[in-house]
Amino acid sequence: MLEGLLVDLVPYGKAFQDLDHRWMNSEASFWSSGGERHFMSEAMVAARHAQWAEERERTGGGSGVGFGVQTKDGKPLGYFGINWLAPAHRLAMLGAKIGEPEYWGGGYGTDALLLLLDYTFDWLDVRKAWLMTTSMNARVMRQMEKVGFRLEVRQRQSALADGVWYDWLAYGLLRDEWAGRATLVEQLGLRERAAALGSGAK
Ligand SMILES: CC(C)(COP(=O)(O)OP(=O)(O)OC[C@H]1O[C@@H](n2cnc3c(N)ncnc32)[C@H](O)[C@@H]1OP(=O)(O)O)[C@@H](O)C(=O)NCCC(=O)NCCS
Repeated sequence: MLEGLLVDLVPYGKAFQDLDHRWMNSEASFWSSGGERHFMSEAMVAARHAQWAEERERTGGGSGVGFGVQTKDGKPLGYFGINWLAPAHRLAMLGAKIGEPEYWGGGYGTDALLLLLDYTFDWLDVRKAWLMTTSMNARVMRQMEKVGFRLEVRQRQSALADGVWYDWLAYGLLRDEWAGRATLVEQLGLRERAAALGSGAK
């Protein structure tokens, strides 16, 4: 378990997989997909989990590392992880989805991102982390700014969400630019946020 101040990152086990059907059909997926509205049946979700498990088995771990995000008292919130790892290039593409909208904007995602970056840079010895979002996603854009990512690519008018065209954005962070989790926890006031919520701060 990777222990944070507002959340912990844990294996993406059954408690998370059981919620995936709701999360994959929710507003969270609209935001994480850049504007798509999916319908996924329970059978489709189960088939996807089976496919990922088979891939992990076949490749000895798969091409990424996924974690469940949970509150300090163990409520499953969603997914944070490396969706695609390119070891030869020491490059990691990150992905994130908090499935419970009432937790958005409360600092949970930033706490999770700091844990994930710490793991990515300091444990896996990755040199660069990156991710994609769209220009409608103000929460991700703000998160990128807070944590020190740079906007590297803007693909103009490439995502259609509810009839409006948005840009695809790619953000990157080099390990040399990473301020470190301890520094950012203090800078971003996460300890105070956790104390205000009564979470067990570490
Ligand atoms: C993206 C996500 C993981 C971020 O987690 P989070 O807990 O919401 O993020 P945080 O609260 O740590 O940071 C979001 C910041 O955006 C700010 N914000 C929220 N709504 C905003 C808006 N409409 N305009 C500008 N800023 C906004 C928040 O105030 C916060 O900044 P602050 O800490 O300076 O106050 C989460 O919102 C989520 O899962 N969303 C749905 C799926 C998704 O978009 N996935 C990302 C795919 S790239």
